[in-house]
Amino acid sequence: MSTLTYLKNFIKDRNVASITPSSMAMVKRVCEKIDFSKDNVIVEYGPGNGVFTRYILDHSTKGSRIISIELNANFVKDLGLIRDERLHVYHDSAENVGRILKTFDIVQVDYVLSGIPFSFIKKKQKDAILSTTSSVLRPGGKFLAYQTSNHLKQPLEKHFPLVSMKYEIRNLPPMCLYEASTMASVVTNGIAHKS
Ligand SMILES: C[S@@+](CC[C@H](N)C(=O)[O-])C[C@H]1O[C@@H](n2cnc3c(N)ncnc32)[C@H](O)[C@@H]1O
Repeated sequence: MSTLTYLKNFIKDRNVASITPSSMAMVKRVCEKIDFSKDNVIVEYGPGNGVFTRYILDHSTKGSRIISIELNANFVKDLGLIRDERLHVYHDSAENVGRILKTFDIVQVDYVLSGIPFSFIKKKQKDAILSTTSSVLRPGGKFLAYQTSNHLKQPLEKHFPLVSMKYEIRNLPPMCLYEASTMASVVTNGIAHKS
């Protein structure tokens, strides 16, 4: 999909929230946080035209699974052109992630990536998405979100014990990159504890 087609989606649908896909520099910086050496279950909210999706597929093991949830029907159609049996694309909203994972019998995932514009989402729905996201991540799992401003730090801190934020200027517009982690479990004497 060209930048022009992306722009047309932006004009018709305010949830697209960006005039152009994320830059490769930003995609790489966000994905640095993913351990691609092992099989992962990765959920993606708002894949758009699939700039992150393709990068993740290119770097993931054969046994990994990527579940991409996208609200815009045009993007869903384009994502359908990616032929890869590890990828499952859903035309749905991020808040329904729990229901979608149930169809795979998946209880917990390793990473959730998100480009959805949380600043456009009402507080109640935002809290519902963040709470569900935290509950579907395995202990030590990461929620990696990118936003145009630093508004998401406080809401994230309500749902995740560890939250950090960095800036990425090699993108149009520059982005705030958030990393929110769930508690890792530590095994001592065969007993699992939360660290
Ligand atoms: C800023 S774009 C990011 C697109 C792509 N990930 C990228 O980095 O270029 C936001 C995307 O989130 C999608 N979106 C917005 N709200 C959503 C929601 N509640 N659930 C799923 N996707 C959503 C939009 O349709 C759009 O594709």
